[in-house]
Amino acid sequence: MDQSNSFLVLFLNPVAKYLEDDSVSEILINGHERVYIERAGRLEETDARFVSEPALRAAAANIAKSVGRILDEMHPRLDARLPDGSRVHAVIPPLSRIGTVIAIRKFKKDTLTIDKMQAYGSLDESMRRLIRALVLLHKNVIVSGATSSGKTSVLNALSSFIPEGERVLVIEDATELQLQQRHIVPFETRKADKNGQGEVTIRDLIHSALRLRPDRIVIGEIRGGEALDLLQALNTGHAGSMSTIHANTPLDCLRRIETCALLSGIDIPLTALRAQVASAIDAVVHTARLSDGSRKVVSIAEVLPLENGEYRVRELTAWKTDAIAPDGKVSGHFEQINTPSFAEQAKIAGIPL
Ligand SMILES: Nc1ncnc2c1ncn2[C@@H]1O[C@H](COP(=O)(O)OP(=O)(O)OP(=O)(O)O)[C@@H](O)[C@H]1O
Ligand SMILES: [Mg+2]
Repeated sequence: MDQSNSFLVLFLNPVAKYLEDDSVSEILINGHERVYIERAGRLEETDARFVSEPALRAAAANIAKSVGRILDEMHPRLDARLPDGSRVHAVIPPLSRIGTVIAIRKFKKDTLTIDKMQAYGSLDESMRRLIRALVLLHKNVIVSGATSSGKTSVLNALSSFIPEGERVLVIEDATELQLQQRHIVPFETRKADKNGQGEVTIRDLIHSALRLRPDRIVIGEIRGGEALDLLQALNTGHAGSMSTIHANTPLDCLRRIETCALLSGIDIPLTALRAQVASAIDAVVHTARLSDGSRKVVSIAEVLPLENGEYRVRELTAWKTDAIAPDGKVSGHFEQINTPSFAEQAKIAGIPL
């Protein structure tokens, strides 16, 4: 346990052993008497307890204080990143109806490399080559999936294929990505202070990034109006950019980008917006958490031009579940469905598929 985490252990003594246990990825506190952890992708209820609701509430307030924030009646929600990189979100009563609720997403010290993902069976060798080709050919890629399905991890893996020598601007709400190349310019947004001042959004940082001569732009996650700024950046160069979005299927990913772009408040006809989405995004890499807790790249799809104003994708690979054992264990296989339209382009560039 590093020094920076020691105060956490102090405040959250009842769950200290989970903070220290590297096999635990999340700690979920639902009021003082109920604590869950996630381990190897599975939720488990624990017997950890806080003495009382006021004790738990005080712990949450202390965490807030230690990072210069306030958690009280007027500020009943806390979003914080701890010095060791772990993310904390807390909500207190009366918003939460079961007492103070805290979720801690622990920072992973060892990066989940694409080698490890492959070893875990999250993707196979041909998908790895496909992903590498997408990056080397400067395709714009969005990683989609549900909450905690492994989107950020896959984005991190994708980014590892960016060749040295390209200038990459990285924009995140809270630093999670770990790009290893030399020429990286990482930015992090800033929340408003307690007087509501000083907020810097992803949109602001895209604006700056575009003036800083990026070869590629990597955005941690698209959640709102910044989708439109990203689309415009992609349609005016900066090919090879990548991001993630919460969506249920590759097609849904395109619709979600559209919905987010509409949140920008900038008036743009729907047909024009759809055309922008379809031309800006080249491929969607879709992730899922299966019923046994394992994460997989369940689909890689190319984005096709609009047809009658509707989005279309062409699936290149997909996960097929063959059986689910009584203990929940999922077995299945990856299937190659279509040859990528850029197969020839890859061949010419000497990139094996
Ligand atoms: N392929 C994988 N194999 C095993 N564990 C994984 C895999 N991908 C991700 N994980 C683990 O799953 C958890 C969630 O991963 P990640 O943060 O990448 O998901 P996400 O979809 O970006 O989540 P969020 O919706 O919160 O942004 C992390 O603890 C991560 O280490
Ligand atoms: Mg994420």
